[in-house]
Amino acid sequence: MFTMFTTIPVLIILAWFDSFSLINAQRNPTISFISKDKVVNIGDNLELKCQAQDAESYPVAWTKLSPSADQEQVFISKGQSIIIPSNRHQILYDDRDSTYTLLIEKIQEIDVGIYRCEITTAVNTKIWADVPVIVRIPPVIADNSTRSVITAVGERVTLKCYASGYPTPMISWRREKNRLLPNQMAFYKGNNLTIDHVTKDDRGTYYCVADNGVGQGARRNIGVEVEFPPFVRAGRSLVKQALQYDADLHCHIEAFPSPSIQWYKDGQVINDNQHYQINTFVRTDEFIDTTLRVRRIEKRLFGIYVCQANNKLGTNQTMIELSESVNIVCPPACDVGFYISGAASYHHQFLSSSIIIFISVSIVWR
Ligand SMILES: *[C@@H]1O[C@H](CO)[C@@H](O)[C@H](O)[C@H]1NC(C)=O
Ligand SMILES: *[C@@H]1O[C@H](CO)[C@@H](O)[C@H](O)[C@H]1NC(C)=O
Ligand SMILES: *[C@@H]1O[C@H](CO)[C@@H](O)[C@H](O)[C@H]1NC(C)=O
Repeated sequence: MFTMFTTIPVLIILAWFDSFSLINAQRNPTISFISKDKVVNIGDNLELKCQAQDAESYPVAWTKLSPSADQEQVFISKGQSIIIPSNRHQILYDDRDSTYTLLIEKIQEIDVGIYRCEITTAVNTKIWADVPVIVRIPPVIADNSTRSVITAVGERVTLKCYASGYPTPMISWRREKNRLLPNQMAFYKGNNLTIDHVTKDDRGTYYCVADNGVGQGARRNIGVEVEFPPFVRAGRSLVKQALQYDADLHCHIEAFPSPSIQWYKDGQVINDNQHYQINTFVRTDEFIDTTLRVRRIEKRLFGIYVCQANNKLGTNQTMIELSESVNIVCPPACDVGFYISGAASYHHQFLSSSIIIFISVSIVWR
């Protein structure tokens, strides 16, 4: 009995040593190190390391799974050779630590993806380790963002802005001259900027800004035009002048789209003639000034004048009374001679003679 007790442990120890030496001889390859996730900028150079233990007699490959190609796997290198047509890729092998280093020069957007170091250990068996590579991309405003809008008073309008880039850009809004946005602040964050009840004051330029900390950021200027019916206002609603002198009736119009403008007296449309001269001056898209000059006033030219503007959204008008005064009112009566009736006709004669001279000169030339 005693001898049997001593031999059994010896056998077990021998068996254990035996199996250990067997494993040692046929060690399976392993990946003992792989680079950490990479976030890189366009133009950078990138280095990806894969340390393969006990893999001397196995093919070690760097492959890539591209998000843009449905994660299809493309082989970049096999062993110590690059197997894709590229002059930006290189493979370095260091036999001291059995590391395969994949170098990629001048990173581009297409280099984004998962890089996989892969060892084929048998016909149907592989081991691998992955390194995701993310490329920082400055924001670019997407084409589906609003370019400009034309809306009308009282309507609801939404301006949209999207941007690509990595990291995902933050979209924010501002207005020209830091005017207030619908949230009553100068700044709004989000893709959609909605104005619930458009007013005239909402017109102008809006800025959509996309920023992700890469590069300068991107900006789009979005023009918002608001259509509204004309609003007509008199410069002065009572204008006085003495007989035989000139008077100017001023009228300010705000409208969009641009209105047609008419002056009336006693229900009759006024056209330019020897007593009337209409000047219209467009200050901006929405502001127009119109002036009716009444020349060498006669008794019948006193009375009520109407300045009227109309566009597709409506009509508006204002009245200006021209009444007789004993005194000569300046301006325009006291302006340079030109505006006084006598001087005006002198000027006319001068003009006519210069036209005649011009004609005779051109005849000589022929
Ligand atoms: C606009 O385009 C961007 C990028 O191309 C996309 O992410 C977004 O979903 C699109 N938005 C709409 C509303 O179509
Ligand atoms: C912006 O509007 C689009 C479509 O009009 C909608 O799909 C999206 O959810 C909106 N975005 C936000 C942040 O409200
Ligand atoms: C012109 O417009 C103003 C402001 O909208 C309004 O108060 C006024 O009654 C209008 N006048 C006419 C004659 O339509």
